[in-house]
Amino acid sequence: MYRPKFGVLVSGGGTNLQAILDAVSSGKLEADIGVVISNVAGAGALKRAEASGVPTATLPHKSFGSREQFDEALVARLLEADVQWIVLAGFMRLLTPTFLEAFPWRVINIHPALLPAFPGVDAQGQAFRYGAKITGCTVHLVDAGTDTGPILAQLAVPVLDGDTEDELRKRVLLAEHELFVDTLCLIAKRSVVVSGGVEGQRTVVRFGPP
Ligand code: GRF
Repeated sequence: MYRPKFGVLVSGGGTNLQAILDAVSSGKLEADIGVVISNVAGAGALKRAEASGVPTATLPHKSFGSREQFDEALVARLLEADVQWIVLAGFMRLLTPTFLEAFPWRVINIHPALLPAFPGVDAQGQAFRYGAKITGCTVHLVDAGTDTGPILAQLAVPVLDGDTEDELRKRVLLAEHELFVDTLCLIAKRSVVVSGGVEGQRTVVRFGPP
């Protein structure tokens, strides 16, 4: 039976990683986590991985001479772990073609807004300050742009009257946990197929049974 192995890249506290680890251990997500790699030493996400018995690695980006050299080191560690899909779970570095060409259409990101609205950093703050009434989160494949790759799934989150930015951020984060796990489950069931073809301006992503 198909059981994919994910490599997860992190930079922060790791609540999305925790949701993924919990889904694996409960049997909901029929996949394995081969390695969790952080560019930040001591990141909370690393402790969560260790507590679940998942191998970890720390590759501080500042100790590499260029973005490409950092990406080459990431790729080497991920290949060593024999992973098929790369999951960016709060990974705060842009990846170069050196990385993306090693895993074509196999890199999945979560973004805390309904793309193409509010790309880039602090998406929740952008939505809040703009006065959006609905925001949410997006799981997408990573391409060479910033938050521009093909969308796999989205979940809407209301901005409630009287919300503070922090309350909105927390509501979006809970939605991220749900959407990320559900989308990875689809991938593990081979219900997401990326053809590599292009129709019009869009890379083709097909949903449905394998
Ligand atoms: C999430 O909001 C994610 O969308 C963003 O960074 C945050 C990471 O949170 N890119 P956590 O480390 O998973 O708790």
